[in-house]
Amino acid sequence: MSNEAPTALILGGTGRTGSLLAGRLARAGMATRTASRRGADVRFDWDVPATHPDALAGVDRLYLVTPVLRVSYADQVARFLDVAETAGVRHVTLLSTHNADRAPRGIDLAAVEADLAARQALTHTVLRPAWVMQNFTDDHLPVIDGVITAPSGGHTEAFVDADDIAAVAARTLLDPGAHAGARYTLTGPQALTFRAVADIIATATGRPVRYNDVDQNAWIDGALAAGVPADYAVMLRWLTGEVIAGNGSKPTDDIERVTGRPPTTFHEFAQRNAQAWTPASAPASAPAWTPAFGANSPFFRIIKEGLGDLVDGADYFDLLAEDVVFEYVISVPGYPRRVEGRQHIVNLYSGYGDYMQLHSADNLRVHRDPRTSVVVLEYEVHGTSVQTGRPYDNRFVSVVTVKDRKVAHWRDYLDPVAVFDASGWPQGPR
Ligand SMILES: NC(=O)c1ccc[n+]([C@@H]2O[C@H](COP(=O)([O-])OP(=O)(O)OC[C@H]3O[C@@H](n4cnc5c(N)ncnc54)[C@H](OP(=O)(O)O)[C@@H]3O)[C@@H](O)[C@H]2O)c1
Repeated sequence: MSNEAPTALILGGTGRTGSLLAGRLARAGMATRTASRRGADVRFDWDVPATHPDALAGVDRLYLVTPVLRVSYADQVARFLDVAETAGVRHVTLLSTHNADRAPRGIDLAAVEADLAARQALTHTVLRPAWVMQNFTDDHLPVIDGVITAPSGGHTEAFVDADDIAAVAARTLLDPGAHAGARYTLTGPQALTFRAVADIIATATGRPVRYNDVDQNAWIDGALAAGVPADYAVMLRWLTGEVIAGNGSKPTDDIERVTGRPPTTFHEFAQRNAQAWTPASAPASAPAWTPAFGANSPFFRIIKEGLGDLVDGADYFDLLAEDVVFEYVISVPGYPRRVEGRQHIVNLYSGYGDYMQLHSADNLRVHRDPRTSVVVLEYEVHGTSVQTGRPYDNRFVSVVTVKDRKVAHWRDYLDPVAVFDASGWPQGPR
C-alpha cells in the first residue's frame, strides 16, 4: 500500500451492497468513491472504458461488482483489472456469489475469481453471498398482491442481509492484509423455505402473504418478458435450479467470524423493512405526512427553495420521480440505508408527524453543478420531538440529482446525535 491515505473505489456504488458499504467505510473514516453510470461520486460504465482511468485515479482498494445482468464479462473485467493495477490498486474485494466455483460454463464468475487469484500485484478477497433478503423488497422477488412467486421445490435458502455483506466487505477493505486470499460464504443464520419467508413478512406487516411455488421455466419466461436480458436466463436457471435441487446455501459462521456479530435474521430484516411491503394505496384525504411534507411545511419550502425552478411539484413528494432512489448515508440506527421508489418514500415518512413536529427550516446553502444536474443542499430544521417534548435542531446535507424536472436520486447526511438528543439515545450497541 502507498503512504497516501487509503481510498476505496466502490463499483456498483449506488447498488444494494455498494451504497451500504460506502456508508460503512465513510463512518469508519476511510476515503471512498462510489462509481456507477448515474448518481454516484464518479461516472463509471463498464461499457465505456474511457470512464475507467478517472474512476481509478488515486485509488488503492477496490470493491468489484461485475457487470450486472450479464454472464460473459471475464475479458472485460480482466482489462479493467489491468488498468486498476497500473493505477495503483493493491487490494480487490470481489462480490461473487454462492457456489461460484460450481457455476455452469458460460457464467464468468469463476473465471474472474481465478483471474484475481493469478495476479501478483494485488491481494484479493472473495465474497460469495447467498440470495439477499433485499430481493423481497425490490423487484427481484416482490410481494405482489400478497403473493411471492418463485420456484423452489419447497427447499431452503439461507438468505442474507445485504448490509451484512457490506459489513464484511468493509472489514476486508479497511484491513486487506487480514483478509488476503480469503473466500467468505456469506449467509443468514437460518436456511428458510420461501413459505417461511412469506410467513415472516406476513407477521412483520400484519397482512397475509402467500408463497406460490411456480414452475421454473414459467418463472424464467416471466423474468425475460419483464425485460431481463435473454442470455441471463442461464444464470436464473442455475440459481433457482440449485435451490430446487436442495442445494441452496446453508448457514455458515463467516459473517460472525469477520464482523464479530451474528448475521441478521430474516425476522429482524422484515421488521426493519416492513414499510417496504405496505401496499401503495394512496390515502383518500389528508395524508399523515401533510404536516411535515405538504405545501406549507418548512421542510418542503426549504427544499423547493434550494431546487428552485429545476423541479415541479405542489408538495415534497410531488418533486420525486416515481423511481427515485434515496440513500441514507449518515442516518440513525434502524433506518433503511437505501429506498427505491416514490411510494416507498411516502410510506417511510408516513408516520413522521408522530415523532417529530417541525416548525422552521433555515440556513440554506445551495451548491449547483449545472453540468451534472446535481444540487447539494445544506440546511437546518427545527422542531420538537413528539415523544420527549425536547427541541429538535438538525443539520442536513442532501445531494440531489434532478432529471426531467423531478428528483431522481437523493443522498442524505444528517447528524444522528441531534436526533438522539431530541428523541433519546439508543440503548447499547446496535
Ligand atoms: N440478488 C442476489 O440475491 C445476489 C446474491 C449474491 C450475489 N449477487 C450479486 O450481486 C451483484 C449486484 O450487486 P448489488 O446487489 O450490490 O447491486 P445492485 O443493487 O444490483 O445494483 C447494481 C449496481 O451496478 C451499477 N451498474 C449497472 N450497470 C452498470 C454498468 N454498465 N456500468 C457500471 N455500473 C453499472 C448500478 O448503477 P447504475 O445503474 O447507475 O450504473 C448499481 O450501482 C450481482 O453481480 C449479483 O450476481 C446478488
